[in-house]
Amino acid sequence: MSDHIDSLGDLNKHLPLKQKIVSAHRVIKANMPFIARIAIALYDPETRILKTFIHSSGDDNPLDNYQALIDEAPSLKRILERGQPRVINNMLTFADSDKEHSRRLGRAGYAASYTMPIFNDGDFLGFIFFNAFETDVFDDYTLSQLDIFGHLVSLMIISELSNIQTLAAALKTSGRITHLRDPETGSHLDRISRYSRLIARALADHYSLSDDYIEHIFMFSPLHDIGKIGIPDGVLMKPGKLDAEEMEIMKSHTIKGREIIDEILVNFGLDGVDYVNILRNIAEFHHESVNGAGYPSGRKGSDIPLEARIVAVADIFDALTSQRCYKGAWTNARAFATLAKLAGEKLDQDCVNALLNNIEEIEEIQQHFKQDIYG
Ligand code: C2E
Ligand code: SIN
Ligand code: SIN
Ligand code: FE
Ligand code: FE
Repeated sequence: MSDHIDSLGDLNKHLPLKQKIVSAHRVIKANMPFIARIAIALYDPETRILKTFIHSSGDDNPLDNYQALIDEAPSLKRILERGQPRVINNMLTFADSDKEHSRRLGRAGYAASYTMPIFNDGDFLGFIFFNAFETDVFDDYTLSQLDIFGHLVSLMIISELSNIQTLAAALKTSGRITHLRDPETGSHLDRISRYSRLIARALADHYSLSDDYIEHIFMFSPLHDIGKIGIPDGVLMKPGKLDAEEMEIMKSHTIKGREIIDEILVNFGLDGVDYVNILRNIAEFHHESVNGAGYPSGRKGSDIPLEARIVAVADIFDALTSQRCYKGAWTNARAFATLAKLAGEKLDQDCVNALLNNIEEIEEIQQHFKQDIYG
């Protein structure tokens, strides 16, 4: 008998995905020291956008907050169409070297790359990039080793994403089972996700937000009003103004949301999913005001978690520009003016600016996710 220390033992532990990928990278480097970086980009089939998600390098990720349409990245598109990886042994002679992301990678010193598509049961989820500082390092033997690691990393990503999907499905199902519905379905949830991500991306540099933080805001923001499933129909669906007592009942959707999420996380064994605190904070604090006049806690300014300040702006903008059982849809111009007025009082100034500085993209999102009959 002899002792062996499992070099990938970290994968047994309860660690965030990012740290597991850093560990896998360390092991890869022991055999292939030229692998300088592992990066993962995820694909959104709705918008055909590909965006950076997680990477193993330090703070120097040249592609942080980078996103592109798959159609504008022909050589990446080819990988997914053929279902086969791509080997670039010299970035300088690579056909797409004039593209922005290639230039950024070149500036960071990457000389070669191996790119594998991630598929789950035939569905394309994104890419894994192995980048090297040296040219001509990817020979057949190295590639066959990397294929094994690539599939290991793929499975880690699939498992993380399926946890989040299970969580979303669990939350949705519990809504149905209690017979109480959130009237905000369909396109509202799609828009909230995209508005929230747009705001987060605009703040990313200033607030040092990572791609995975932004991506989790995207995934969790549609669940902000999950607590409304605990609000009686008579209040939730009331076609006119709520009186003071009804409004107090309505306000409890924030605390109820947090409780429902906590319970579901425990029941489905998902308490360990990365970043679930982002979800808890969004549900509980999306109606706080920066001036302290919000609910449920009256928190002020930066005591309100950033994810909740971001979703508040996305939620109010969408509530104003959508029809509700208690109001008609406003024009964008009127909604923008109202947001500008609320900035610094109710809403976070930076978050409002982030939205107002990107009106073109906001309108694209509205075009893409038009109001359907469900609101
Ligand atoms: P919601 O419809 O998703 O609205 C979210 C937030 O958007 C509201 O949070 C509010 O801050 C903003 N908002 C919506 N409509 C207007 C508007 O016409 N003017 C202005 N200035 N802001 C608006 P709030 O007020 O805390 O309400 C939370 C939730 O309570 C709402 O979610 C909605 O479900 C319900 N609610 C609020 N007021 C009424 C009402 O008068 N009648 C009914 N039936 N429900 C209401
Ligand atoms: C592109 O064609 O812009 C993508 C380049 C790449 O695949 O690295
Ligand atoms: C990346 O390496 O993060 C993506 C760019 C590429 O290699 O096409
Ligand atoms: Fe709400
Ligand atoms: Fe809402």
